[in-house]
Amino acid sequence: MAIRKFSERNLTTEVLRRLRGCRDRRLKKIVTSFVRHLHAFVREVKPTPEEWMKGIEFLVETGRFCDAKRNEFILLSDTQGVSMLVDALNYRARAGATESTVLGPFHRAGAPEYSLGANIAKNPDDGEPCLVTGTVRDTRGRPIADAKLDVWEAGADGLYDSQKGEAMNLRGIFRTDTEGRFHFRCVKPTAYPVPHDGPAGRLLKATGRHPMRPPHLHFWITAPGFKPLVTHLFVKGGAYLDSDAVFGVKPELVVDFRKGRDGVWRAHYDFVLMREAPTRRARKGARTPARAPS
Ligand code: BEZ
Ligand code: FE
Repeated sequence: MAIRKFSERNLTTEVLRRLRGCRDRRLKKIVTSFVRHLHAFVREVKPTPEEWMKGIEFLVETGRFCDAKRNEFILLSDTQGVSMLVDALNYRARAGATESTVLGPFHRAGAPEYSLGANIAKNPDDGEPCLVTGTVRDTRGRPIADAKLDVWEAGADGLYDSQKGEAMNLRGIFRTDTEGRFHFRCVKPTAYPVPHDGPAGRLLKATGRHPMRPPHLHFWITAPGFKPLVTHLFVKGGAYLDSDAVFGVKPELVVDFRKGRDGVWRAHYDFVLMREAPTRRARKGARTPARAPS
């Protein structure tokens, strides 16, 4: 049997040819594209063997930085703009719906559920007091009752509770009233750096970038029949709005925070959710059960 000689010219084609037995069409598409782009990258950059090894060591170290509380790969994806690109391709706000943005690594499942009006800040030194009011509506302006708002934020020290190993603080779950309204107390968001003591941060520094995020408050809003919305509200006039380390700012999400005479900051926002796209079965007006009832 003749042994083929692989060269810079034909190696990519050969790697792709070996995917012909892959039965999973989506996986085949993904790996084909990955190989094509990776080979093109190597052709363009022409790394020395030492540089290539440095790249591999960077990824190994990124893995080492991951544990139950920290995912350095997500941070790498966020800081290199990939998370926002994935979001842009998957969540297209239609008909006046609220824009989405990056989830980030600091959401915690199981945050406390509060009645409307409660304060998510448990310590007096968490930050400046703030009242957030608003509504959740559909794209026709109709209020969505009982929508769930999961909110979280960093304190004035720029840290989330989980970064300090603390119990749940500066986070909570609220539900809209029958008119789709919500209100809760929190602290005025402040700018803070994304974790930058690991490989993702080193890469930022080495490439002349800062790790800062503009002041923001996170929201994850869900309601039955609607597409979940992961988003932020950004403070108008806040620092780093034009250079967010994770590219998450969208002009529609920047809102006025005004300080009242009582020393309390106030912000208002009307969120708009899109209806969940009907499933194929629902579109066909499914008359037969999807599965035989057991
Ligand atoms: C955040 O806003 O919590 C965040 C987002 C992306 C990376 C790091 C932090
Ligand atoms: Fe954040």
